[in-house]
Amino acid sequence: MDKISRKKFLEQATLLASTALLAPLAVYAQKQGGQGKKIKVGVIGCGSVSGMYLPHLSASPFVELVAACDIKPERAKAAADKYGIPFHYPHIDDMLSGEPFELLVNLTDMQEHGRLNRQALLAGKHVWSEKPMANSYREGKALLDLATGKGLHIWGAPAVVNSPQFAFMAKAIQEGRLGKVAAAHGHYGHLGPTWSAFFYEKLGGSLPDLGVYNLATLTGLLGPAKYVTAMTSIVTPERTVDDKGKITVEEEDNAMVLMDHGNGVISHVQSGFNYFDPYGHEGVGQDKPTITIWGTHGNMGLVGYDWAPFGVDLATHEQPTPQRFVPDAGDYVWQQGASVVSESLVARTEPLISATHALHVLEIIEAARKSGKSGRRVRLKSSFKWPLV
Ligand SMILES: NC(=O)c1ccc[n+]([C@@H]2O[C@H](COP(=O)([O-])OP(=O)(O)OC[C@H]3O[C@@H](n4cnc5c(N)ncnc54)[C@H](O)[C@@H]3O)[C@@H](O)[C@H]2O)c1
Repeated sequence: MDKISRKKFLEQATLLASTALLAPLAVYAQKQGGQGKKIKVGVIGCGSVSGMYLPHLSASPFVELVAACDIKPERAKAAADKYGIPFHYPHIDDMLSGEPFELLVNLTDMQEHGRLNRQALLAGKHVWSEKPMANSYREGKALLDLATGKGLHIWGAPAVVNSPQFAFMAKAIQEGRLGKVAAAHGHYGHLGPTWSAFFYEKLGGSLPDLGVYNLATLTGLLGPAKYVTAMTSIVTPERTVDDKGKITVEEEDNAMVLMDHGNGVISHVQSGFNYFDPYGHEGVGQDKPTITIWGTHGNMGLVGYDWAPFGVDLATHEQPTPQRFVPDAGDYVWQQGASVVSESLVARTEPLISATHALHVLEIIEAARKSGKSGRRVRLKSSFKWPLV
């Protein structure tokens, strides 16, 4: 079975964006010979975000949910009962030696991802990981090498490059509708999660939790970053969270990151856990642009958050009054990543989301922290296949 190229895939996705995306791709997968095949999936981490993933995975024609696991065993049991998952476990060791499955979906604390992803790869499983894929670029790169060496796949959230709004913006830039692109901005923040301490502990922070979306979008649109300069700070040094009560905040809850994409293109991302945001953690009703790109001939703004977009406002030299495009996200939802890669495993296609892009974003986050501490500009070494369109 042939792999289709990213370019072809995106053309296809863009074409189908205004209609239901999953159904035609399902037809495509079946044409490729994957008819009836389902990927056996084990989900580890049955907390907040699993409440978004599990309904999507349950509805996917490419997924058979086999196992749920959580170190809080009552959560694994509750998820298994609710979604009819036949096996549930209190520990990854039990899960990996229990009922066989093919893809681990890792929805645990950020600090646990690298370790658990490695264990799963060593046990011969593909991995979809919530962000970040690992605790450092180095650890993440070793995971990708391990996966490749074993003929396995690993992918990391976010799934923002899958939205039809992203596809529209990428195409507008590639077609030169903005002229020479010069600058871009992205922002995402709220008052911070209240349920778990790990968001504020070492290797947590607003960059891997929130900034990661804008970093993936802007590098996806403008290309890999060459240099990073940043300032980071802690605005609220103590917080009270559900699982541990009063805690000391150890990682940045306020970040400003500048990226140099080469060819004169500079962008800026800000993220934080101290933003009053009337749209809250869920972003319901956010209708202002949170991503803006400026060029010599036009500018455009992604309306809503990049993980939940509902339009692109584009103004050009010919049409200076902004026009709204792509008001419908089709079947795109931010929690679709694990379902999309299951579909890719069945169809043997290459999804737009890639481990190399996720690793590049991880390197940017590390570089931003380094720059924040040293006051210096940091050179990046990683890259990914670009343009995506
Ligand atoms: N909550 C959201 O809206 C949201 C949205 C997008 C992405 N995410 C990402 O999803 C991940 C999880 O976030 P969350 O909000 O669901 O956190 P959470 O605290 O609600 O859930 C994490 C779960 O993982 C379990 N866990 C931790 N270590 C484990 C281990 N070693 N083995 C098995 N289970 C383990 C915990 O017991 C907990 O039930 C994070 O990477 C976060 O950035 C969360």
